[in-house]
Amino acid sequence: MRFKWSSLFRVMRDFRKPASKLSESTRVDGAKQASSDETGDSNIRIPQHVAVIMDGNGRWAKNRNLPRQAGHRAGAENLKALCRMCGNRGIKYLTVYAFSTENWSRPDDEVHALMNLFGEFFRRYDTELAAEGIRLRFIGDIPALPEDIRKIIVEGEANSINRDNMQLIVAFNYGGRREIVQACQKLALLVQQGELEPAAIDETLISQSLYLPDVPDPDLIIRPSGEMRLSNFLLWQCAYSEFWYSDVLWPDFSDAHLDQALEAYTDRNRRFGGVKSV
Ligand code: IPE
Ligand code: IPE
Ligand code: MG
Repeated sequence: MRFKWSSLFRVMRDFRKPASKLSESTRVDGAKQASSDETGDSNIRIPQHVAVIMDGNGRWAKNRNLPRQAGHRAGAENLKALCRMCGNRGIKYLTVYAFSTENWSRPDDEVHALMNLFGEFFRRYDTELAAEGIRLRFIGDIPALPEDIRKIIVEGEANSINRDNMQLIVAFNYGGRREIVQACQKLALLVQQGELEPAAIDETLISQSLYLPDVPDPDLIIRPSGEMRLSNFLLWQCAYSEFWYSDVLWPDFSDAHLDQALEAYTDRNRRFGGVKSV
């Protein structure tokens, strides 16, 4: 029984992702991908892929005696600023954590407000995204989302597919564990159909069964709000990512914070388990 690539591609296509071109899938392993930094004109090393956990909206609002929803709105506005900051610095992939699979456990009115904000934000933001040449993509359990949200996702991905300045990847109804579970289900189906030997399952095959197999692993993961945890974000992909934390609350995250993170990243010695001369 031999493994057939065509079968894997077919099963993956059936799961979703009209905008995810599987033919782009050239990913090898995380460590190799993550080491391909670009060097800019300055002494700052620009990561190819930055991921941000946009946390602290609630506390930002509380500090101002505002409802939590006001914090989410301010946070969404700051996402536009972040895209500009990253685009200006030559970052090619920006992944942002917007709603986790665990965030459904929040009060109904907050979940409802976050869903409404999502629709409003991405409908209005498309013109600016286009002007900045930003391709929009989504990761998460998209089929489980309400239909109006899915429609915005499908249209946003399709409309922006030819833009190549930067990719903005929005993690929405995203959980790292769920992503891995779903990858396992895809591969288990192939085994069941007699198209894949269990022993042929390796790291490459699992990577290629995740939501966006053509996107390199994040080089740098930024978490504002003072928390030092991943909260189920990019669990597979973060194997060799560098981390940067700050007490700043997400709506207040600015150019200066991004530059601090990039400076810290520049000083990191990424060894990927090997030995590197200083
Ligand atoms: C992040 O901000 C936004 C989402 C998780 C949707 P929070 O709402 O978690 O803000 P804090 O952590 O309560 O301050
Ligand atoms: C992580 O923040 C998820 C997002 C920013 C979307 P949370 O606020 O949900 O994480 P915990 O609960 O503090 O771990
Ligand atoms: Mg939080």
